[in-house]
Formats: sequence, structure tokens, C-alpha cells
Amino acid sequence: MDSPNRQTQAARLYHDVTKHSYTSVRSGAHYLDWDNRPFPFKIYPHAAALALPRNLNLSSMPTLQALSGRAQVDPQTPLDLQRLTRVLFCAGGLTRKRKVGAEYYHFRAAPSAGALYPIEIYLAGGPDVEGLEPGLYHFSPADLKLRGLRRGDWRAALARACAMRPSVAQARAIVILSAIFWRSAWKYQARCYRYCFWDAGTMLANLLAAADAEGLEAEVIVNFADAEIERLIGVDGEREGPLCIVALGRGAPPEREEVEVPQLEMETVPLSMEEKSYPDLVRMHRASKLSGVDEVLAIATGQVHPGAIEVSRSAWPAGSGLGETILRRGSTRRFAQEAISAEELTAILESSSGHPRCDFAPLGDTYLIVNAVSGVASGAYYYSPTRRALELLKAGDFRAEAGYLCLEQPLGADCSALLCYMASFEHLLDALGNRGYRAAQLEAGLHGGRAYLAAYALGRGATGLTFYDDDTVEFFSPHAAGKIPLLMVAIGVPA
Ligand SMILES: Cc1cc2nc3c(=O)[nH]c(=O)nc-3n(C[C@H](O)[C@H](O)[C@H](O)COP(=O)(O)O)c2cc1C
Repeated sequence: MDSPNRQTQAARLYHDVTKHSYTSVRSGAHYLDWDNRPFPFKIYPHAAALALPRNLNLSSMPTLQALSGRAQVDPQTPLDLQRLTRVLFCAGGLTRKRKVGAEYYHFRAAPSAGALYPIEIYLAGGPDVEGLEPGLYHFSPADLKLRGLRRGDWRAALARACAMRPSVAQARAIVILSAIFWRSAWKYQARCYRYCFWDAGTMLANLLAAADAEGLEAEVIVNFADAEIERLIGVDGEREGPLCIVALGRGAPPEREEVEVPQLEMETVPLSMEEKSYPDLVRMHRASKLSGVDEVLAIATGQVHPGAIEVSRSAWPAGSGLGETILRRGSTRRFAQEAISAEELTAILESSSGHPRCDFAPLGDTYLIVNAVSGVASGAYYYSPTRRALELLKAGDFRAEAGYLCLEQPLGADCSALLCYMASFEHLLDALGNRGYRAAQLEAGLHGGRAYLAAYALGRGATGLTFYDDDTVEFFSPHAAGKIPLLMVAIGVPA
């Protein structure tokens, strides 16, 4: 009998029941219960804390270079607490706060749908991180501290969960991104399963760019034995579940290949008075779990997909440094209906679409609606990353359609270009089973996060957007027939 991951009607069903349509958004009875709003930080009241350095000195490497996959990366680059903090801060640090009523709202380095921040960051450090005792830690963005969860070197346990993937076994440090689904489900209900992967993807965009700027090798892993990672980080795999792993740098392998992982008993502060679980989400998460090493090996061929697309960047505008871009980034709330240049669009598309070093082959495609780009006719396009070319699907002014497709938000109508990441459903399920649905959503978040960074580096604005599913496919068809929309990002001139 096929494993649950290969019973791919689960992903198809989840996708269908969580589609947005003109009717569904009008008929939903869901409301936001502000008294039960989940707290955006995970707090371990009894864990020992290690304060991270606050004089961060973020990288001034041009953002587009850090996104290119061609920065000078050396596997031997040493990792110390300063470097590690910069990488963690760029992924999940607090960058701004705003007072709304009597309360402060904190915004973070990477965008998050609805500013709900469902993603938690854990870190397993080996003996090759200067200034950090080997151990498993939780990163706390609120006070910029690491909280100790387990002492010792846990890389062997992580490597085992990833079928002894060398990048994990030999990493200097390993980052685990996991989602507390309730934080996002409070607003988005079962559909938030997709949003959690988008949010993990935008964090990955920042994290990988920061690692590149530090000269640190990084590999993303989506295929792992879920239960083993859940046990290691002490989460139940239903309310909170690991989404992806990033191996950072290369050091000495662990001394022991076999390690026992005892149960982790660590109290955390409840997020809200009560938590609601959404059965469609729970079913989808369960159906995309990999049960053990054999199943991991069966889909992750052990191959590393180096992915970075070689691009000639000489004609591109320089743009701001990575640290400055991340500190300045924020989602554009209103676009002026003005044009960006064709060079800017090219730079954003090329920076966005490169594939990272990871354990899966590229899954997604980029479509776009050009509203106002000088030198590019308005219309609907498919972007081919290999040919670095826009293929015109239909010419015309589609501002009204762009605004409609992203849930009738004016941002889509007023932006210069609306990027729409899509993927062939059949292809992603064939490649990785239900797990392919996770990987494709994550990849779209990564591409979207990079589009944000490239746009802000060029002094332009960006925002993620959600969408009407079937109408989007229909708009880009026949080219997009059989595909599913994954995420939209609007780019343009902030008003
Ligand atoms: C995946 C994703 C989807 C988003 N969808 C929308 C959207 O539909 N409408 C909107 O106005 N903003 C959207 N946003 C923007 C978020 O609301 C914004 O990132 C969040 O409020 C945090 O603010 P910041 O990006 O300025 O730091 C989205 C962001 C992401 C990452």
C-alpha cells in the first residue's frame, strides 16, 4: 500500500477546499476574535537565555549580489556568534514597531501574511560555532536571545532524520523553521497552511541572502522524517510542525553517529485563551509527512540541486546593501500608478527566480501582469528563467483584472507589475507526493521574499497578496492550464 504521502488526493482535496472565490469570501462566517488573538512570540519561561550581540553591523554587500547565488561562498567560512546573529536577525529579527491603540505591534525582517508571524526558529549548533556551547536552541526575536533547550551536539540526530545528508551531518549549525499553525489560522483558518509555507519562504529569502553575504554555504532541506525533528525540537507535529531545515557552513562531522533523543519537557506560555484546530489543515499536514529514512530516501535522491541561474548582471542598477534593504523593507500599502523600468523588472525577476542549493528540483513558474513598465507592453506574460525572457500571453491593459484577481485589493491594480507564482499540480505531486505541495508553497514564498528584497534594494516597493484561485488560473490559461496559483507579489512605486 502507498504511504500517505503518495496518496495525493489529500493535497488535491486540501487545495480545493481552501480555494478563495468571489463567492467564498462573501459567504464565510469567520470573524476575528480579538480577545483570543494569539501572542506572536513563543516564550520558554524556564529556559536559560544567552543574549546575542546587539552591535550587528549588517552586511553592506549589494542586495542583488547577495541574491544572485554567486556571492563568494566558502564551505570553510568560520561561524561565530556575531555572524550567526546576523543570519538569524535577517531571517526573523524585529525591525520596526508601531503603536496601535495602547499596544505596540512589532514588525520583522521578513514579511508575514497578516503580520501574524507563525514561524519559529530553532538552531542546532555543533562544536564549530565560536562563542556558542553546542546545543539545541530556540531563537527569541523579542529580546534577541537564544534559549537553551538541549545541551550537546544534535547534528547526528538531524542528519539521521534527513537520511544522513552530508550537508546536515557536517554543518556548523542547522536552522529549523517550524510553524505554530494556530497563529495564522486565527485569521486565515485552514487556508493558512499555505501561508505558513509562504512565511517560511520569505524568511528563507532573507536567511539565504544573509548567509551568502557572510560567505556561508547554505542548503535547504524539505524532505525529512517529520517525527524525528518534532521529537528533537519538542513539538507535537499537529499544533506545531517543522517545515524546513537549513544547513549552514561545513565543519567537522559529529563524533557519534547514533544519538538517543530523550523527550523534551519544556514549558511554554500559552498563546491565547483557547486554540482552535482546523481538520482540513491537520489532515493535509499528516498526509504530507515522511515516516522515516526510507521514505526520505525514496523522494530525496541525495542529489543537491545547485540551482542558481547564471545571469549577467552588469547592466543592472547597483541598489542598496543587504542590511540596509532588510531594515528598510516593509510592505507597500499603496502604489502610485507609475512605471518602473524594464531593467528594474528584469533585475527583480532574475533575483527572485533562482533556485537555492536544496534537496528538490525547481517546481514553480512565474507569470505576471505588466501594468506599467517602461519599454514593456502592458499585458499578461510568462517569465522563462532559463531563457531570461518574457513570453507575451496576451497584450492589453489588465489593471482591473489584476486588482480583481488579488481579492479585489487596489494594490494589484495600482502596482507596476503583479507577479504570480504558479506550479503544475501534477508535476509537483509526481515529484514529491503530498510533500511537493509543501515544497512548492515554500519555494513560492522564497521567490516572493526575494522579489521584495530586490524591489526594495532598487528603491521600489512590494507586497505579498493572496488571490482568487480558479480565476487566476483561468486568466493565465491556456498557458497555465493544470497549474495552481501559489502566491502573488505586487511590485511598483509606493504612493
Ligand atoms: C505571503 C504574504 C501574503 C500577503 N498578503 C497580503 C494581502 O493579501 N494583502 C495585503 O495588504 N498585504 C499582504 N501581505 C503583507 C503583510 O500584511 C505584511 O507583510 C505584514 O503586515 C508585515 O508587514 P511588513 O511587510 O511591512 O513588515 C502579505 C505578505 C506576505 C508575506
